[in-house]
Amino acid sequence: MTTELDRLRDQALADIDDASSLAALDEKRVALLGKKGVITAQLKQLGALAPDQRKAEGARINAVKTEIAEAIAQRKQTLEALALERRLEEESVDVTLPGRGRRPGAAHPITQTRERIERLFVHNGFEVVHGPEIEDDYHNFEALNVPPDHPARAMQDTFYVDGARLLLRTHTSPVQIRTMESRQPPIRVIAPGRVYRCDSDRTHSPMFHQVEALYVAERVSFAELRAELQSFLEAFFDTELKLRFRPSYFPFTEPSAEVDIDGRSLGTGSGWMEVLGCGMVHPRVLEAAGIDGERYTGYAIGMGVERLAMLRHGVTDLRQFYENDLRFLSQFV
Ligand code: DAH
Repeated sequence: MTTELDRLRDQALADIDDASSLAALDEKRVALLGKKGVITAQLKQLGALAPDQRKAEGARINAVKTEIAEAIAQRKQTLEALALERRLEEESVDVTLPGRGRRPGAAHPITQTRERIERLFVHNGFEVVHGPEIEDDYHNFEALNVPPDHPARAMQDTFYVDGARLLLRTHTSPVQIRTMESRQPPIRVIAPGRVYRCDSDRTHSPMFHQVEALYVAERVSFAELRAELQSFLEAFFDTELKLRFRPSYFPFTEPSAEVDIDGRSLGTGSGWMEVLGCGMVHPRVLEAAGIDGERYTGYAIGMGVERLAMLRHGVTDLRQFYENDLRFLSQFV
């Protein structure tokens, strides 16, 4: 005869088998064997039975209770083993997968170009010197023989910092003055750095970079300037070059020239391309900086780092150097 207890037991064993997680199994255990569980309730009812029935019934209930507890323990073991297996599977590392890889970094193309220029000049005996980016009118203009009414001083070109006395240097030429003020010839230096002008388009940026070169000693000649530039530019562009020295005007040099490269020597084939300005340091500039203009002569060169980088790499829009687009920058790694 199936009794109420047998049905309870069958149901309990089936439920235990069905429990799909440790949490569900524990819930089941509480519902069966807990203080308010159905088996516990059965035991509590024993008191209502006649004493002779009580013993036999009690033993039956306890046997069922043991059977259920064992079933729970067994199911628990099974579920724990399953959980462990699943965890091992999830946490396993597939050592045959390809790695994530690392992309090499590199200096910015403008930095690379500046360092290339520095390296080549240092190789030819020049020393690298620096000057302030916030300059005074005297060093940026006056000592460089730029008269007060010169168009280069106009507000649209120069960023003034403090009224009209302090400004963001518009070129690296003031470092010539600062160097000559602090030492006597022979002087053989280059001054790389940032310069600022109120100007912005495809070939102009309000901030850009220049390198100034200055050589002052006894009997420095224009021929030496030409030789230095031929050597530097051929090393920089890594090829033989046809150069043209075109007469020009800068207040701080006399005579002055702009240097053009024959486009055919760079493979661009687009006629003469201007690369830089240069000349023999004006005696007035030497004197302003405390150098004897009778005894010493010198040459000066001013070049744009962006311009040289554009020519070397065939970049046509200067602004690309400042947009930080990795598709552009990674070409210079
Ligand atoms: N300072 C000039 C500029 O910013 C460039 C320059 C030209 C510098 C001729 C020189 C030079 O030293 O001799 O445009």
